[in-house]
Amino acid sequence: MTPAQARRWARRFAGAVTVVAIGLFVGLAGCRTAPLPEQGSAAEHLYAQRCGSCHKPYAPSSMTAAMWAIQVDAMQPKIAQAGLPPLSAGESRAITEYLERNAGTQ
Ligand code: HEC
Repeated sequence: MTPAQARRWARRFAGAVTVVAIGLFVGLAGCRTAPLPEQGSAAEHLYAQRCGSCHKPYAPSSMTAAMWAIQVDAMQPKIAQAGLPPLSAGESRAITEYLERNAGTQ
């Protein structure tokens, strides 16, 4: 291998390493679920339990307070269809309030 060939090879290798590193970083960042707000509180536990069994619990910041109030109601028929116990008025209120407290602004 001539020095010129060696340099070319080194550049190509460095490029490949960078591409793999970026791919790995983006992939890991995408899979990682951000921890829910108010970790360890009763409200967080209730939300994760009642709203995280069919799909991952959505990040409260992903919707506005107004949207959350609608979403929680919209899940009731799905919960009933799945044969799960319906949200009681208290559970529904606690979950909605938790989501509204931590809701996004847009
Ligand atoms: C019985 C299963 C089940 C439970 C429990 C459940 N969901 Fe869902 N959820 C679904 C399904 C199925 C969808 C798919 C979208 C659709 O069919 O509208 C969904 C979609 C969503 C979406 C996305 C809607 C959109 O427009 O992208 C949000 C937000 C959501 N659920 C929030 C909640 C919240 C909050 C709770 C707890 C009160 C909850 N889910 C509990 C089944 C469930």
